Amino acid sequence: MKIAVASDHGGYELKQFIIKQIQKDHEIIDCGANDATTSVDYPDFAHIACEKVQKGEATCAIVVCGTGIGISIAANKHQGIRCALCHNEYEAEMTRRHNNANALALGGRVTGDQLALNIVKRFLETEFEGGRHQQRIDKISKLEQ
Ligand code: RB5
Repeated sequence: MKIAVASDHGGYELKQFIIKQIQKDHEIIDCGANDATTSVDYPDFAHIACEKVQKGEATCAIVVCGTGIGISIAANKHQGIRCALCHNEYEAEMTRRHNNANALALGGRVTGDQLALNIVKRFLETEFEGGRHQQRIDKISKLEQ
């Protein structure tokens, strides 16, 4: 799977950890940021990753900031992006099964590395169920217009 991964400085360390752990199984597009010490603005990096998904250059995005909140809000401003901030594997599974989320947000300052990796793996391995959930997603798409 092609995955766009982005963070701000607050999510940088977790971004690097996730990339290191999943790069053997997936093609990673690292959208920055490039270090944990330069203060940057998370909407800029959410935008780079979301554009990759919108253009079909990536199947999904993983976006990380300090809490995961700001970067998820920014990601969800992009048409066609359904970004879920997840704190456990159950949320990751359900947002794929029911919301067909195509972006996962994580908080580098609130979620430990191993739990974050488990969340990422569950997100990537879970399929969308379709059916009644598709009509709900269609209604979300209409709200974007
Ligand atoms: C950066 O200090 C921090 O505000 C950001 O990473 C994130 O937590 C915002 O939601």
